[in-house]
Amino acid sequence: MRIVSGMRPTGKLHLGHYFGVIKNWVKLQEEHETFFFVADWHALTTGYKNISALHENIEELMVDWIALGLDPQKSVLFIQSKVKEHAELYLLLGMITPKSWLEWNPTYKDLKYNLLRISDLELMIKNSIRDIVKEVVAKLPYKVEDFELLEEQLVDDMAQSIIKGIFEGYLARDILREINVSKRDFYETDTFGFLGYPVLQAADILIYKAKGVPVGEDQLPHIELTREIARRFNYLYGETFPEPEALLTPTSKLPGTDGRKMSKSYNNAIYFADSKEEVQSKVMKFFTDPQKLRKGDPGRPEICPVFFYHKIFTEEVTVKQIEEDCKKGALGCVDCKRMMFERLEAFLEPIREKRQKAKENIKQIKHAFLDGSHTASKIARQTLEEVRERMNLV
Ligand code: TRP
Repeated sequence: MRIVSGMRPTGKLHLGHYFGVIKNWVKLQEEHETFFFVADWHALTTGYKNISALHENIEELMVDWIALGLDPQKSVLFIQSKVKEHAELYLLLGMITPKSWLEWNPTYKDLKYNLLRISDLELMIKNSIRDIVKEVVAKLPYKVEDFELLEEQLVDDMAQSIIKGIFEGYLARDILREINVSKRDFYETDTFGFLGYPVLQAADILIYKAKGVPVGEDQLPHIELTREIARRFNYLYGETFPEPEALLTPTSKLPGTDGRKMSKSYNNAIYFADSKEEVQSKVMKFFTDPQKLRKGDPGRPEICPVFFYHKIFTEEVTVKQIEEDCKKGALGCVDCKRMMFERLEAFLEPIREKRQKAKENIKQIKHAFLDGSHTASKIARQTLEEVRERMNLV
């Protein structure tokens, strides 16, 4: 089966990326024809203002992939922007994609919702400052021809500067959290490029006529849209694209150090680029059962993220022992964490070494990705020829 997937270069990878997606990729490359790419264009759909780290992020991602076992001998590894054919197919698919499909896409809808919250916020602010403005205007020592207009203008201006203050000033964090709006959403993603994100993703997949797309759950709406676009193309111009399926990883979400899902934005992640000491300090700070205050207290391993890690990294017999000892209060959290750290390190250390080596061989790795881009390009070109013909171009 032909398989395609991509990842945006947004920073270094953590354990959650590995257990959520990459572990699956590494397994799939053994049995299938696999294409994995760095989705640098996709990174620009949201991060176009902040490009200073893009180059570095792309390199770090390549290094992480190699260290985690993706192999250019087994998979076609490449950079999206090096295969321009994706862009041409994106353009052509854009012609047949109804705008409503994109506007109803959950990612985009959430953003729109955030923007609506902003206009709510603006209304709230206006209502609360209107009285003050009225008072001020009434006290003016000179005559104004149109009181109401002046009031509205003042209210408008003040509301705008207050909102600006909220988004740029020190209030940002609290208030934005309160209204569940992120600054980035507000300023950066009301663009054509962001609206078209799923069309570009559809082009990434369909250009290889892939049958399987190994992704995390959050990507399901995008895969569904890809299928719809494929169907519409086939209906309009004749059978061309197979409808790809999402290949989900069965493992449940890996918790971070605070017990929530591991994520960069929660600041609870363990990175492959972390040193042994950094990992140790993170492990010792792990959230544990809050009812287990001291060693003698009985614990609840089923709600403890440290135990979750034991289940992944520790031998089965020991896991059973830990579970029993924790429940009856014979094992304290500090000792339990120390044991977990040891097992986790046994997993991380070889990866850290491979990472280091990969960094030293970065030239070679870049070369491998360029090679991959050529290979991908060849296949992409064939699909495009067919697509152009179907659409009566040339
Ligand atoms: N949208 C994906 C993500 O954020 C990345 C991606 C881009 C992708 N193009 C793709 C994934 C094509 C699968 C197939 O993770």
